[in-house]
Order: sequence, then C-alpha cells, then structure tokens
Amino acid sequence: MEVILAKPRGFCAGVNRAIAIVHQALERHRPPVYVLHEIVHNTHVLEELRCRGAVFVEELEDIPRGSVTVFSAHGVSRAVEQRATALGLRIIDATCPLVSKVHRRMIRLNAQGYDVLVIGHKGHPEVEGTCGQAVGPVHVVSKASEIGQLQVTDPDKVGYVTQTTLSVDDTREILLAIRRRFPRIAEPDRTDICYATTNRQAAVRELADRVDLVLVVGSKNSSNSNRLREVAELRQTPAHLIDDASEIDPAWFAGVKRVGVSAGASAPEHLVVGVVDWLRRWGDVTVTEMEGEEEHISFLVPELEV
Ligand code: F3S
Repeated sequence: MEVILAKPRGFCAGVNRAIAIVHQALERHRPPVYVLHEIVHNTHVLEELRCRGAVFVEELEDIPRGSVTVFSAHGVSRAVEQRATALGLRIIDATCPLVSKVHRRMIRLNAQGYDVLVIGHKGHPEVEGTCGQAVGPVHVVSKASEIGQLQVTDPDKVGYVTQTTLSVDDTREILLAIRRRFPRIAEPDRTDICYATTNRQAAVRELADRVDLVLVVGSKNSSNSNRLREVAELRQTPAHLIDDASEIDPAWFAGVKRVGVSAGASAPEHLVVGVVDWLRRWGDVTVTEMEGEEEHISFLVPELEV
C-alpha cells in the first residue's frame, strides 16, 4: 500500500499560539488555569492540557473569582469580555489574531452604518464570538438559500465577513447569491477564510485525486477538519475523520492501494505518526509526502500581564 501525506497539514499558527499561551499561563501561575470553552477543538490537546492543570469550562460563572482565565482561539463576544471583568477574572486572550482581524473589520463596517452578514455555521463558537462583537445589525448566513429571506436596513449598505474555517467551495456559492441580491455589497480586500484553512483544503483536493481513500486526523467538533473530509468526498474519494489511529476500521481498506492522510489545523502531528504506524502494521507500505505550500506564518505569544 502507498501512503501519501498531505502538505500542509496539522497545526496552524493560531493553534500553536493558543496552546503556547495556556502552557505559559500554567508555568507562570499555579494550576488550575481556567479556559473558557475548548482552547482548540481537539480531544488529545485538551487531555494533555488537562493533565497539566488546565480546567475547561463552558460558563464564566463556573470559574472562581480572581482566577487566571484564558479565552479560546475561537474568540468571544463583547458581553463575555465584560462579564469576565465584572466577575474579577484575570483574563488572557488566546483569540487567533486572524479571528480578531475579522472582528475589527465587522466593527468597522457596523460603525460605517452597514448591516454585516456573518457567513458561518450557526452555533459555532467563532461565529457566536464574532456576532457578539457587533456594534450594529448582524445576520448569520449558513446557506445560499437563506439570502433571499434576509431583512436588512438598507440593501445598498451591506457588508460581510466569514468564519475563518469555512469550505472555500461552499463559500463561493454563498457569495454568488449574496452578490446577486446585494450588488453593492462591501467586499473585503481578501477573504477571511484563513491561510491555514485554504492551504489544507487545496492540499486535500489534490491528494483526493491521487488516492483511493483519505483519512483526516481531527476531532468531530473541529470545523476545519470536517471541511477537509468534505473536500475529499466532493472529489468522489471516500474519506473518514478520525481522532486517532484507534478509530480506523480495517474494513475501509478493501481494494484500497493508495491512502492519503491529512490533519486538521488543531490536530497534533504525533497523531498522524500514529496513523502511519497503524498502516505500516498492514504490511508493505511506502510513505511519501506530497509537494505542497510551505507555511512560514507564526504569531507571537504575548507577554502575560495578569
Ligand atoms: Fe487562526 Fe486559521 Fe488557525 S483562523 S486558529 S490560523 S485555522
């Protein structure tokens, strides 16, 4: 069997930064360090941080007053920021800088009198955080079919932002519908779908054409990992999203000669290694990595002042 590894795959700059922030907080402050929501959507990352003393909570009210509290990479609403301050929490913000950039553009559009369409998955923490940063009207749009029913203040003053981890293909379709309904829509200079999402989807698109089966390492609630599985399936290549090698089903390999392996932006590389090791146990396996985009983006880990 031939195994081809996607390039790029796995951790992005925002995830590296968010995890480093929690590690730094645990080193500088005595555990527990509280984290509002999952710092990134990966069960293995959470487990490792839990072992070191991180406590993940869904409600600010579950955090004792004065505790060091990290906001996850997905960002939070203005109301959450204010409530955390009122509760006397010592906040460290691990929101990905690319998500913060989306927040800033949305606030700017609202301030200029625009209704803002937030293209994304309803209920996803990033979308909730983005909508919660609004200073004017916002509307979440998940499908092209929803555009027709939108009630906006002024159809000539509408802008949009997108969740950073969307499918490039699906978003194209939604944007066509938006431009049809709002021909004067305020367009951003460049898409909000981040470099990591775009690069990983492009790699899987190419990989899917070369293999009989794609395995995507990532957790079930990871938006960008789910999109990678969908990208492969759109190319008519069977694909499975697995948290780690223990979830592989040998029945998937009937008649399979080439397997592609990728990983979502929140999945650590050691899990990919675990999958490759599992495949090696099958017998004669050659492993290669495809040619792909080199990523050189990294974000500074802020000095903590809490
Ligand atoms: Fe940031 Fe994109 Fe990663 S928005 S957290 S660099 S997937």
